[in-house]
Amino acid sequence: ANCILIGAPIDEGQRRPGCLMGPAAFRVAGLAAAIRDLGHGVTDWGDLALPELREATCPNPAVHSLAEVVGWTEVLADKVEDALADGGLPVVMGGDHSLALGSVAGAAAHAKREGRPLFLLWLDAHSDFHTPMTTTSGNLHGTPVAYIAGRGDFDAFPPFPAPIPAGRMCLYGIRSVDPAEHSALLEHDIAITDMRVLDEHGIVAPLRAFLERVEAEQGMLHVSLDVDFLDPSIAPAVGTTVPGGTTFREAHLVMELLHESGLVTSLDLVELNPFLDDRGMTARLMVDLVGSLMGKKVFDRPTRSK
Ligand code: ARG
Ligand code: MN
Ligand code: MN
Ligand code: MN
Repeated sequence: ANCILIGAPIDEGQRRPGCLMGPAAFRVAGLAAAIRDLGHGVTDWGDLALPELREATCPNPAVHSLAEVVGWTEVLADKVEDALADGGLPVVMGGDHSLALGSVAGAAAHAKREGRPLFLLWLDAHSDFHTPMTTTSGNLHGTPVAYIAGRGDFDAFPPFPAPIPAGRMCLYGIRSVDPAEHSALLEHDIAITDMRVLDEHGIVAPLRAFLERVEAEQGMLHVSLDVDFLDPSIAPAVGTTVPGGTTFREAHLVMELLHESGLVTSLDLVELNPFLDDRGMTARLMVDLVGSLMGKKVFDRPTRSK
C-alpha cells in the first residue's frame, strides 16, 4: 500500500487538552518507519490547519466549539478524499474522535464516486452515536457515528455524502453507551459488538463475519481506532478511559485479521492524548498495532483458509 499520513491536531471535540499533540507523538513513536519497514510506501502530508471559521450555531447550549469542528470536518473530508483519489491509503493521525466526522465523509465521497459501498469498523469503548441535540457533555467527539449514519441535527455540517446503512457498520469493543444513544441505536437497528458479545464469542468470529460481508460486496473499509478501545492498563493516554478494554493480544489479533483480509482502505488513529501518556507507551502501542495492520507478523506462514 501507499500510506498517506495526515496529521489532524484536533482538540475541540472534547475538553481535555492534549489530543492536538497526537500527530507529533505518532511521528516521534516512529509511525512512518514502522510502515515503511514492512515494504509499503509512506508519504507524510504534514498537519492540517483549521480554515477560517464560519459562524455555526446549535440550539443545544451544551455544545461547544461547533464552528471549529465544522471547519475541521471540511478540511479533513477534502484531504481524505484527495488521498484516496491519489490511490493512497489515508492514515489520519488525531486528534480527538470528532475528526471522523471529516475522514469518513471523505471516504464516503470517494466510495460514492467509485460506485462502491463503504463499510465502517468502529473500534471504540463508546458508540459515539449522539447528535449535537442529544449530547449532554457537548463534546462533539461523541457524535461521528450518528453523522455517518445520516441522522438529523447536523445542520451546521456539510450533508454527509452517502450515509452508511446500519448493516455496513460494525461497532466493536463497545462498553459505554449513554441512554440517548442506546435508544437511537435500537431505533436505527445498529448491531453492537459489545464486550458481552466478545466475551462469549471471542474476538475473532464476530470480526471475521463482518469482514466476509465487506468482501462479498467488494466494499471499501474505513477503520476508526479509538485509543480507549484498548484496556487502560496498556493504553493510559486517553481522556475517556473505560475499564475492561481489549488486551494487547486481542488488539494485535484484530489488526492481523484486518491485514489478512486485505480490505482496509482508510484508517483513523484517534484520541491519543500524549500529555496523559506514560513514557510514550500508548503512542508506541498504537504504532505497533498499525504495524500488525500493515502486515507485521512473528512468523510468515500461509494464512488459515476460511
Ligand atoms: N458518550 C460520551 C459523551 O458523549 C463519551 C464520548 C466519548 N467519545 C470518544 N470519542 N472518546 O460525552
Ligand atoms: Mn480536494
Ligand atoms: Mn470514540
Ligand atoms: Mn471512545
